[in-house]
Amino acid sequence: MPNLFGFHTDKHEKAAHKSQENESSKETAPSIPGTAEVIHVPAPAAVAKGSAAPAPAMSALTQAQGVLSASDASHASTAPSQSVPASSPSAPPVASNQVNPLTGLPVRSLKGRYKLDDFSVLRTIGTGSFGRVHLVRSVHNQRFYAIKVLRKAHVVKMKQVEHANNEHQVLSMVRHPFLVNLWGTFQDPTFLYLVMDFVPGGELFTLLRHSRRFPAQVAKFYISEVALAIDFLHKHNIVYRDLKPENILIAADGHLKLIDFGFAKITTQSNGMCWTLCGTPDYLAPEIIRARGYNSSVDWWSVGVLLFEMLAGYPPFYTDDSNPIKLYEKILAGYVQYPSFFEVGAKDLLKSLLTADLSKRFGNLARGSRDIFSHMWFAEIDWDCLYRKEIPAPYVPQLGIQGDASQYVYKS
Ligand SMILES: Nc1ncnc2c1ncn2[C@@H]1O[C@H](COP(=O)(O)OP(=O)(O)OP(=O)(O)O)[C@@H](O)[C@H]1O
Ligand SMILES: [Mg+2]
Repeated sequence: MPNLFGFHTDKHEKAAHKSQENESSKETAPSIPGTAEVIHVPAPAAVAKGSAAPAPAMSALTQAQGVLSASDASHASTAPSQSVPASSPSAPPVASNQVNPLTGLPVRSLKGRYKLDDFSVLRTIGTGSFGRVHLVRSVHNQRFYAIKVLRKAHVVKMKQVEHANNEHQVLSMVRHPFLVNLWGTFQDPTFLYLVMDFVPGGELFTLLRHSRRFPAQVAKFYISEVALAIDFLHKHNIVYRDLKPENILIAADGHLKLIDFGFAKITTQSNGMCWTLCGTPDYLAPEIIRARGYNSSVDWWSVGVLLFEMLAGYPPFYTDDSNPIKLYEKILAGYVQYPSFFEVGAKDLLKSLLTADLSKRFGNLARGSRDIFSHMWFAEIDWDCLYRKEIPAPYVPQLGIQGDASQYVYKS
């Protein structure tokens, strides 16, 4: 990939951040009214045995849903056609008047079913802690999609059943310009499959490592799109909990798409509190490490970590020790050394995000996210134009023909 911003190659070759979950604390998956036909997959007894609480059934991982709602009309991508036809294979998007009471988002009417035979699997484009993602092509409409595959036994063994359910629940509800679009899910006896749009421009992680760091204007553009996505989730009582450059992809037009809702959760508590210790070490807010409960403002902390990393080329609590305890100590100590080249406005914003004091953290105060969107560093951002993707992206990936996955470096 060319170095677009004229920076030399990164000497600080940092490994990708790995998501983690501490199993000592568990949340109860909310039951979401309006989700579709349910298949209960009992946890294998031998694996579930040692866990503190029995692993819940995979309630929300429903049979395939080729789902469209009225708002889908605005999306450029096309639903993969299904072998079991919906009422009509090219049926118009189905509007629903029902609203999910927890998120306020419309309940999407479920139509159609997918199965593996509907796709040719072309190559692996990514792996994460819990899943493997493949580039696939629909045998019906010849378009390209990404399918995230989760091995059921692994999900149960890693005590990720609840998170797999959450990922499906959240992704199937949300529609936003900067969130990846889920078309449907299906399963077989061994695997769970999530069918998403293929986002061809690669990970923001790769672009950042190749560029070493981003110029302030570039970082501002990317963090602004991320902030709109996070704010949308929070407005609908969803906490994301795994913000990092590996989970942010670049679309063909250069705009961002947030992926990986493995740790996303609909907050059922009236105070929005969560207790599960999950996320990626470099991005964890101090209150998650302290394990005394936290709210959605942990995402604004990780927006601060991400912005710092984009501007500096390394995260604010970086340690070259592989022992995460040192990292956690640094986060709890809360001392951040700001490089002298940081703009005054960026530093001011970062100080308001990277504060352990929740009575001072932007996003958690009386004005909520408005403190962030109206911060002086964002003065030139027209948020409505940004939402409509009218601000041109600083980098547009060079792509060949449809289905070009060359921006993904994974080697099978
Ligand atoms: N829709 C998509 N289009 C293109 N590539 C994708 C898509 N979804 C995922 N990927 C690639 O696959 C990788 C792994 O996906 P994902 O982050 O969802 O898995 P995970 O197991 O939940 O990861 P983590 O280690 O962050 O928990 C991503 O970092 C990205 O490179
Ligand atoms: Mg991921």
